[in-house]
Amino acid sequence: MIKPQSSVAAELTEVQLQKLLPELLKTQPFHSKNGSQMQSLVWKFHHLGQDYALKLSKAKSQQAAKFLYREHEFLAVIDHPQIARLVWHGMVNQHYGLITPWLPGVLLHDAHHQLAQFLPNHQARLHCFLNIKAMVEYLHQQHIYHRDLWAKNIIIHQATPYLFDFGWAAWANEPTPFTPPQMRAPDDVKALAVLRQQLGIEN
Ligand SMILES: Nc1ncnc2c1ncn2[C@@H]1O[C@H](COP(=O)(O)OP(=O)(O)OP(=O)(O)O)[C@@H](O)[C@H]1O
Ligand SMILES: [Mg+2]
Repeated sequence: MIKPQSSVAAELTEVQLQKLLPELLKTQPFHSKNGSQMQSLVWKFHHLGQDYALKLSKAKSQQAAKFLYREHEFLAVIDHPQIARLVWHGMVNQHYGLITPWLPGVLLHDAHHQLAQFLPNHQARLHCFLNIKAMVEYLHQQHIYHRDLWAKNIIIHQATPYLFDFGWAAWANEPTPFTPPQMRAPDDVKALAVLRQQLGIEN
């Protein structure tokens, strides 16, 4: 049986969360229009002046919890200003959940067709790409492969990219985990090349 250890950040106490979340889940629609929604649903909620993303396992099963529990293990060791920060993880109504601050901005996927609005010139697009590359290099230094590096897992805010969704991540020193054939970007280096092209950066 998985027994997640709750790490509670100063801004949200466990007691507050346990009170807040069941009510929240009853009253607010889930946000996750863009996610795969295979294993989890994402909720956006507001608390004490700050927006948060709650990613909650869909099923109550241990198998469903395992996926997200694994995601929290990556988030827990990452300390990077442009990568989602783990605020809390634990059980809510018998579902396993993890909370990160809500990243403001627009998904690169949505910005992609109106790049001129969000990344107005070549310099801005190059800056964005180099930032994404630097995040991947940082992750690889931490022995983490993201494995799902694509435009729906990157948010652009004030021409700066932010990265989240470690649902398919893997440790460099473990055997390659299950990789379904429809997975878009299991190879971070190839994924970077695709993003470079999408950002319209010439060689
Ligand atoms: N911290 C966040 N800030 C802003 N938006 C978020 C955040 N976390 C998730 N989202 C939104 O919710 C969507 C789904 O989240 P996420 O990518 O983590 O799940 P997923 O793609 O369903 O996961 P997986 O593919 O691992 O099952 C994202 O595409 C994004 O729109
Ligand atoms: Mg995703």
